[in-house]
Amino acid sequence: MAAARPRKRTAAQPAEPAPVEPVEAPVVAPSAVTTEAAPPPLLEVRGVRAAYGRIEVLHGVDLVVPQGSVVALLGPNGGGKTTTLKVISGQMTPTSGCVHVSGRHINGATPDVLARAGVCTIPEGRGVFPNLTVRENLRMVTFAGTADQARVEEVAYMRFPRLGERRNQLAGTMSGGEQQMLALARGLAVDPALLLLDELSMGLAPLIVEGLYEIVAQVAAEGVSILVVEQFARTVLGVADYAAIMLHGTIVSVGQPADLEEELSAAYLGAAAH
Ligand SMILES: Nc1ncnc2c1ncn2[C@@H]1O[C@H](COP(=O)(O)OP(=O)(O)OP(=O)(O)O)[C@@H](O)[C@H]1O
Ligand SMILES: [Mg+2]
Repeated sequence: MAAARPRKRTAAQPAEPAPVEPVEAPVVAPSAVTTEAAPPPLLEVRGVRAAYGRIEVLHGVDLVVPQGSVVALLGPNGGGKTTTLKVISGQMTPTSGCVHVSGRHINGATPDVLARAGVCTIPEGRGVFPNLTVRENLRMVTFAGTADQARVEEVAYMRFPRLGERRNQLAGTMSGGEQQMLALARGLAVDPALLLLDELSMGLAPLIVEGLYEIVAQVAAEGVSILVVEQFARTVLGVADYAAIMLHGTIVSVGQPADLEEELSAAYLGAAAH
């Protein structure tokens, strides 16, 4: 679990610090990240609006995740973070705007098609099967015959030795942190290009969260692009290349974590950010 953090921050970094933008015009992660003949961003969300019934909750969301980077989507309750992930993962169709994955327009694609495009979501609440063992949970990933069962287990236990020790334990009887490890292991088993994480830290002790984010940083260093949603910022800022603050259905600021710290603490998250 105590993986080192071999984050390489140079390649995707803009020449100048990204500006912290004010509210009105929704901004995206700085285009400067793509200066050095870079590939298209892994994820590009442009002007996305989305509604539950007649109530619009996303009012034109712009967001970019450059290849191999970690972007944190932060903000208080009800801002629209989970809804944004639902649009990206094909669970909701935007009423306007578009979503591109590796330069491909994927609006309205089914979750199935998205999975094949390498988009993997770990939802709020983890999404593991409590009445199945660790091993059975991992085996479920291979049902489509896309991954080799033994290999999936081997990789999962290598990354999370704790899961190896608990391979025959029912997932529902494990600690919250262990369940989150299992959720991550399941997500990573499909070899995603883009990992979407919703509230990885929910209900977990700070030390556990730190350990999970070390894994996230390690996975990003292996080349996976990651969009991670959190309400409270502190730990994720340590591994994020960029952070975006979402409020009332729009992105109100984007920048490098250091540029946003003050804004996060003061304006939105208050003492909870510590
Ligand atoms: N299934 C739903 N039906 C109707 N409204 C919904 C539904 N899910 C979310 N909403 C509303 O959409 C808005 C955005 O919710 P969303 O869950 O995306 O926010 P969030 O930023 O993820 O919040 P949290 O930090 O509490 O998880 C909220 O006002 C919420 O009440
Ligand atoms: Mg949410």
